[in-house]
Amino acid sequence: MKFQYWLSVCLVMLIGCVSTSTWPSPSSNDAGNAMLIRRGAYLAVAADCASCHRGVADAAPYAGGLAIVSPLGKIIASNITPSVSAGIGAYTEEEFRRALKDGIGRGGMPLYPAMPYTAYRKLTDDDIHALYAYFMNAVPPDDRRPPPTRLDFPFSIRSSMRVWNALFLDDTRAAKPLSPELERGRYLVDALGHCSACHSPRNWLMAEDNRNRYLSGGAVNGWYAPNITSDPESGIGNWTQAELVQYLRSGQVRNKAQAAGPMAEAVEYSLRHLDEADLNAIAAYLKQTPAMGTPDGASPAQAADTALAQAGASTSLPGAALYASACATCHRLGGQGAYDGYFPSLTRNSDVGADKPNNLIMTILYGVERRGENVTVWMPAFGQTLDDAQVADLVNYVGMRFGRRLTHVSADDVATLRKGGPTPAIAWLPYMMAALGLLIVIAIGYWLARVRGRHSRKDARQPD
Ligand code: HEC
Ligand code: HEC
Ligand code: HEC
Repeated sequence: MKFQYWLSVCLVMLIGCVSTSTWPSPSSNDAGNAMLIRRGAYLAVAADCASCHRGVADAAPYAGGLAIVSPLGKIIASNITPSVSAGIGAYTEEEFRRALKDGIGRGGMPLYPAMPYTAYRKLTDDDIHALYAYFMNAVPPDDRRPPPTRLDFPFSIRSSMRVWNALFLDDTRAAKPLSPELERGRYLVDALGHCSACHSPRNWLMAEDNRNRYLSGGAVNGWYAPNITSDPESGIGNWTQAELVQYLRSGQVRNKAQAAGPMAEAVEYSLRHLDEADLNAIAAYLKQTPAMGTPDGASPAQAADTALAQAGASTSLPGAALYASACATCHRLGGQGAYDGYFPSLTRNSDVGADKPNNLIMTILYGVERRGENVTVWMPAFGQTLDDAQVADLVNYVGMRFGRRLTHVSADDVATLRKGGPTPAIAWLPYMMAALGLLIVIAIGYWLARVRGRHSRKDARQPD
């Protein structure tokens, strides 16, 4: 017993000696910490933590409170400053790792997947360590507590997320090893940038379909995150590497595409701050993804419509006058744009020519706002001044005149996007459950009535 005790004391001392002899001096340790924190700060930007977790009132970084609109209802982003009372100050590194990778908050509370842990699951432990060092040491604590998230039953029961996690958390590793640059690109796209959260379609339970339709286009609260696979027709296959890098850095490529809505936020808060090598790695990775058509993309009927649109005289459409009064000052009557592309051309714009009119409708309703390094891009929102029918007329005119597509957008289509897009099937779950509950009650009632009926018949036959 004694011998074992002294043996262990000696061992501990030996290990202590070896490890202290390899300890760096305090000053290089500080430099190491500073480097770790700086790396964590860069990772937080690449993972876009700030765009969801920003404060609402005075935009205090990471103070939370922003309501993330989801088909389940509004989910409030947490305060992730190191405040012990309101933020994540009490999180250990292991708890922080679990929140990011498993979607389990402190005390075992399952988080809603509005927090993109399905993507952060692929983060390396080294990067989680750097992120933790950054949040704990370099983010100023903010003691304001955001309001709690209140969803309707059954989504209010957080434990239901455990079932969802069991079904959909995916740990399959990519089969094909890539070059170091492409691996970096894959990591930025899949783990940090969580691009598939918007750019992959989802199933009826709101899980991303990355196995079959990776990055081939997905709906985001009324917007449409287009196909960004290497498909030359519906994806980014005909974009050059330089165009992709420029789009990610500035949100616009002249005569091609502009980033509005959720993509404008991704550019503003995250992508424009990434270094050149990382932007190139993302572009190179996207360019070699398997080409895939957009789900429910253009049909042959639409192609025929396009030919018709090219032949048709479009100036007589009801949207023409609206366009002249509301849009032409900036985009010009011929749609060619102005001021060196600051007001972009609509004749060569990915949203105007797109199969899906979503982004054109949403741009008219909500405008564009995107802050860059030295320029803020701004287009007014027309959602308050134009009604649904007027927006539909405008979209049909702009689509035909400049996008060479015959679109048949109705006032109802516009109304649907105004409220965040068509209701996905999962939102009907409470009603389905209520209907099922009612059926069960009726069935039990019927069964009880029959049993009782049988008993009373028996009672009637056997007088006591
Ligand atoms: C797309 C939006 C989004 C992004 C990006 C995002 N989060 Fe979150 N996060 C949320 C939401 C929403 C919640 C609250 C979820 C809930 O209440 O279930 C949350 C919760 C958390 C929590 C749990 C806090 C608590 O309430 O105890 C932590 C920790 C966290 N996020 C850290 C991060 C970090 C670190 C990053 C960047 C690496 C990040 N988040 C990026 C939306 C986001
Ligand atoms: C929060 C949702 C969201 C996230 C996250 C997101 N995107 Fe997007 N993205 C969109 C939307 C919406 C559009 C369409 C914007 C528009 O045209 O105004 C878009 C447009 C694009 C386009 C232009 C495509 C075209 O045909 O015009 C590219 C390229 C792109 N995104 C790449 C990325 C990459 C790479 C990432 C990850 C680093 C990413 N996106 C993350 C929503 C998102
Ligand atoms: C005050 C000037 C102004 C007016 C008026 C205006 N726009 Fe814009 N529009 C802009 C600017 C600025 C952008 C963003 C350019 C960028 O992202 O670099 C833009 C972008 C767009 C885009 C591209 C969005 C994308 O994500 O690709 C479309 C489409 C568009 N406008 C259509 C319209 C229509 C239709 C009208 C009339 C209802 C209109 N605009 C009125 C200035 C204007």
